[in-house]
Amino acid sequence: MKKIAIFASGSGSNAENIAHYFNSNSEVEVSLILSNKKNAFVLERAKKLNIPTRTFTRADFYETNSIVDFLQNSKIDLIVLAGFLWLVPDSLIEAYPNTIINIHPALLPNYGGKGMYGMHVHEAVIANKEKESGITIHLVNEKYDEGEIIQQAKCLINAEDTAEDLANKIHELEYEHFPRAVENYLNKI
Ligand code: GAR
Repeated sequence: MKKIAIFASGSGSNAENIAHYFNSNSEVEVSLILSNKKNAFVLERAKKLNIPTRTFTRADFYETNSIVDFLQNSKIDLIVLAGFLWLVPDSLIEAYPNTIINIHPALLPNYGGKGMYGMHVHEAVIANKEKESGITIHLVNEKYDEGEIIQQAKCLINAEDTAEDLANKIHELEYEHFPRAVENYLNKI
């Protein structure tokens, strides 16, 4: 059995989609959902899905080893960041080399880096009148959005599309590709 821990800071629709996807796979389990926000909606979703949760503070995450210890004691094999907005500390990257995957809602290396998350990304893409955007699934290293790219997928942007329209298109791409990319990656490790 391979065990996944998902980190999410907000709504958690990707976290839920991934958990549903692996429900029908007896060899993979979403074992934990972690959040840096005590009131994040992802925690409600986790409750409904019967997945144990853990929240943590900035001090827990950056100044102690408690989250690394917790993940290792829980025998987690792969960490998936699904709308998780904090930089991952070196201690976690060292404990999980090449086994932390992030999804970014744009075609990296464009529209990445600190502050580029969620609607900020889509607003910037629309403001620049881009003709296309997409998603990037990548490994996590010590810099925001710079780890090795595993997979990208694109969508077209129409002249009349708003940032909200683009966010919807991006979510559809994420729901379609992210769980399978995680599964394929798990089969390689
Ligand atoms: C997703 O679109 C994800 O790509 C993005 O946050 C959204 C979370 O949605 N992540 C980032 O911007 C990371 N830089 P969700 O909470 O509904 O899954």
